[in-house]
Amino acid sequence: MRKRYSAADLSVFTREEASRFAPPGSDPQQDVTLAWELLYRLEPELYDRLATAERLHPDVVAWLPRGLHRIAEVGAGTGRLTMELLERGQQLVAVEPAMPLRRILRRKLAAADRTHRTQVIPGFFDRLPLPDDFADFVVACSAFTPSAGHGGAAGLAEMERVCRPGGCVAIVWPNHLDWLSDHGYRYVSFPGPMSVEFASYQEAVELAKIFYPKAADEVRRRGSRTIRFEVAGLNPPRDLAFKVLTK
Ligand SMILES: C[S@@+](CC[C@H](N)C(=O)[O-])C[C@H]1O[C@@H](n2cnc3c(N)ncnc32)[C@H](O)[C@@H]1O
Repeated sequence: MRKRYSAADLSVFTREEASRFAPPGSDPQQDVTLAWELLYRLEPELYDRLATAERLHPDVVAWLPRGLHRIAEVGAGTGRLTMELLERGQQLVAVEPAMPLRRILRRKLAAADRTHRTQVIPGFFDRLPLPDDFADFVVACSAFTPSAGHGGAAGLAEMERVCRPGGCVAIVWPNHLDWLSDHGYRYVSFPGPMSVEFASYQEAVELAKIFYPKAADEVRRRGSRTIRFEVAGLNPPRDLAFKVLTK
């Protein structure tokens, strides 16, 4: 990923995106987080193939609350979590800054015939285009980090602002547990072996080369379309952090 894009690609960002992801002097060959932001905009279908293979633990999905009035998801991407939320609320708003990912998510929602009670809108953690106390459940999956461009304290405060009193804010597949704990979040993790499940062995070889280069030889050697998350060098998507708001 570090070598995939160059500084010339940064022109794909809108001004709002550049102000969060690419301050002056940024170089995607030195900053892998920035390279991911370019992936979402330059090769969204490639990203979607990866996200489809990296499925959430079934108990994470089972944990998600049901019978909700409104749900807001931030950083929805191409819908790995969104599609699991559809039956859990009367109304769902998916906020996603990258236009090419919004397009794929809208396509999936249309195919599932769920466009009537879902909205896919642009926006960022630190300035959510939603009113106070809007949703019962406000959630992000593999999107929120403590860094300002990807959420930070301002982003967490925004998620809590749009969550109604008694509602729940959840960060699925979190990566900074101590930081979230310091902000009053409880942690849940579900056990069991987990593998990335590609559609075919050919896809496993192709995508491992790009996304898990250290595991690419192992994928070829095993000749399988699946690869353990640990072998891929990733924490498995088996956990979440959440807070029930008492405001
Ligand atoms: C790894 S993807 C995860 C997407 C999706 N939630 C999933 O689980 O497949 C990270 C997502 O966070 C979004 N994102 C990055 N920075 C953001 C920000 N400041 N505000 C909102 N979303 C952001 C990206 O556009 C991308 O869709």
